[in-house]
Amino acid sequence: MTRIAVVTGAAGGMGRAITQRLIADGLLVIGLDLDAAGLADMAQPRFEGVALDLTDPDAIARTFADIGAEHGGLDVLVNNAGTCFMSEFPDIPAQEFEAQMAINFSGAFHCAQAAIKLMQGRDGVRKIVNISSNGAYNFDVFDPPHYRASKAALDTLTKDLARRFARDKIAVNSIAPAMTQTPLFGVVSPETLEKALAQMPHGRAMQPAEIAAWVGFLVSSAGDISSGNVIILNQGRDVR
Ligand SMILES: NC(=O)c1ccc[n+]([C@@H]2O[C@H](COP(=O)([O-])OP(=O)(O)OC[C@H]3O[C@@H](n4cnc5c(N)ncnc54)[C@H](O)[C@@H]3O)[C@@H](O)[C@H]2O)c1
Repeated sequence: MTRIAVVTGAAGGMGRAITQRLIADGLLVIGLDLDAAGLADMAQPRFEGVALDLTDPDAIARTFADIGAEHGGLDVLVNNAGTCFMSEFPDIPAQEFEAQMAINFSGAFHCAQAAIKLMQGRDGVRKIVNISSNGAYNFDVFDPPHYRASKAALDTLTKDLARRFARDKIAVNSIAPAMTQTPLFGVVSPETLEKALAQMPHGRAMQPAEIAAWVGFLVSSAGDISSGNVIILNQGRDVR
């Protein structure tokens, strides 16, 4: 039976690569994103795009209810949607703080709640993969504190859900990448970007397909025995 996956932020740099990986691995992917045109551009067999704002919990509830009605359940959720607003502490506007947490954490939280219900009673080990960031762990690079905190919150959710649903065979892990070449690079100045890339041990940014391969691994049967882990992908940059 075809496994059903939801990928949030599917129209972004990493989201497109993750979607391609999972489709190539035989899953049907439902991509959620604000970017309706980007989703339309991804039209292909075994892909369905749903345009919605993941900061709207009611829209999330409606979307997952529709997925349940149409597909009868869900096997995989990849919480990938996110952004990095760059104002600096202590001058971060309240609205920006709320938006950073809403997109990076609350959206993932609400998707996880809705997804877990649709995963009940499905065969095999079902999977949640949360896309975190090295920014939650490496304090030498440029990330602002509200971005770091949103990802740290996501990783705590990973561990809580992993423990809570282990016996239900729902595996929950985070992947925390460092510099990966996507449109998100646009949030920093060319100088900051150059400095951050110079810190990457291989002398280059990582590519979205490289991160997607790790998501694919966790989603595959090889990933069945991992839960509650935060997998750091950074070419060994932060090992001391
Ligand atoms: N690129 C990196 O270097 C890097 C490093 C570490 C972590 N990450 C994380 O990877 C994930 C993917 O980022 P990316 O680099 O592909 O960025 P991206 O900007 O290319 O993609 C993000 C996608 O999320 C969507 N999105 C944003 N807000 C939304 C909302 N409210 N509702 C619905 N969709 C929304 C955007 O439309 C976009 O398609 C993010 O969680 C990011 O924090 C990226």
